[in-house]
Amino acid sequence: MPNIVIIGAQWGDEGKGKVVDYFANRADVVVRFQGGNNAGHTIIVDGEKNVLHLIPSGILHNRCHCVLGNGMVINPEVLCQEITNISENGYDCSPSRLSVSDRAHMLFPYHRDLDNWREAESGENKIGTTNRGIGPCYEDKVARRGIMMGDLLSPNTLKVRASEVLNYYNRVYCPIYQGSPYQLDRFYDHLLRYAEFLKPYICDTTQLLHSCIAQKKNILFEGAQGTLLDVDHGTYPFVTSSNTVSANACVGSGVGPNQIHKVIGTFKAYTTRVGEGPFPTELFDSVGVELQKNGHEFGATTGRPRRCGWLDLVALKRAVLLNGITSLVITKLDVLSGLENLQVAIKYRHDNDMLDYYPSQEHILRDCQPVYQTLKAWKEDISLTRNFNELPPACSDYLKFIENYLDVPIHLVSVGPDRNANIVIQDPWS
Ligand code: GDP
Ligand code: IMO
Ligand code: MG
Repeated sequence: MPNIVIIGAQWGDEGKGKVVDYFANRADVVVRFQGGNNAGHTIIVDGEKNVLHLIPSGILHNRCHCVLGNGMVINPEVLCQEITNISENGYDCSPSRLSVSDRAHMLFPYHRDLDNWREAESGENKIGTTNRGIGPCYEDKVARRGIMMGDLLSPNTLKVRASEVLNYYNRVYCPIYQGSPYQLDRFYDHLLRYAEFLKPYICDTTQLLHSCIAQKKNILFEGAQGTLLDVDHGTYPFVTSSNTVSANACVGSGVGPNQIHKVIGTFKAYTTRVGEGPFPTELFDSVGVELQKNGHEFGATTGRPRRCGWLDLVALKRAVLLNGITSLVITKLDVLSGLENLQVAIKYRHDNDMLDYYPSQEHILRDCQPVYQTLKAWKEDISLTRNFNELPPACSDYLKFIENYLDVPIHLVSVGPDRNANIVIQDPWS
């Protein structure tokens, strides 16, 4: 069985949680490899909603071992709470099923404070972050002053690291915030509490993954955010602070590229975005409102309304190339039912030029006008359809148009939020 990376091909919230849960019924291991609790991955089982922020979306399947990889930034308070909540919902979340990398970096209140302060300071130029402290935590990692999960296992090192970093924040940032300094004793007490709870979960997850590989177990790598939020390839500076593309599955978990056999790109049948930044196909009319209403487009992490627009094939093509996508999963196709007509962006107009590729510079993208192809719409409710041949012809034409444009097959169609609301075109594991 192959090892598969599942990533979001747009600006996040493509339905990755649902898709990973679908694949996880045949996976042995599910690994998150980047991001933190800026992610909100929704899985609905028999009408019951579960939103996961840190724990991989395989946790609802007993057969899966779940791993929080070294590339993640982990708020220990949120992790303890999430483990407790999932356990209370009746799922086994014990250390026999969940492992946390000793090399993942920890995210603390001072990261959140800095994120909040920067956003407030930036006024109209803000990024529109999730205010979870993600950027500042990755900054500390790169600046080599971060505290890792593994430090919880050595109280002496922990105290030294904690003292150094609090000194830094108190010296550099507190005067700017005009806030009271962070107290080492209080901070250290919290760290010891996290250590007590999380100790049994923390290990060398890279070693663990390699022993799974040796046993021919199959691994699913679960991306967070989306390709266009990637810090290197997204709409910088309106991006998150990690690499969200498939290649980071290797770095963020410690496996080589030869261990990745397939890359599945998940995308919505239209486009959404939360936060600031360019979005060429954004709709400001009644269709945008309808998409937001019918798709319940409110963030799973922050509750913010998501901006909505038509499907952007120029951007998706870029995502196919950046990730090496081998097959696609389309979600929320049911939301398009009943619209008058459908538009998909196939090119951009920039000044007097026609672009058939996604420009890498944010200021150029901002000035691009999408060139649309109008496609036939359908009226029928497809949310109960489970067979490709029973889709309205206009609907299957929509899928074929996307496949032809991107030159990648669609293997799975999601037609509702529930775990079982899927049309399988080809067994995605094959
Ligand atoms: P993720 O971050 O990529 O996991 O996506 P989110 O969970 O943030 O947002 C996706 C939302 O769409 C969730 O509320 C899902 O329950 C919902 N969803 C997923 N697939 C479908 C679908 O095919 N149809 C509909 N109507 N909703 C879906
Ligand atoms: P999932 O995994 C959608 C966006 C924020 C903001 C930018 C930077 O659920 O798809 P950050 O807090 O990461 O510094 O914010 O990235 N963002 C997301 N948008 N889905 C997400 O995760 C996101 N995680 C971050 O809205 O624009
Ligand atoms: Mg989400």
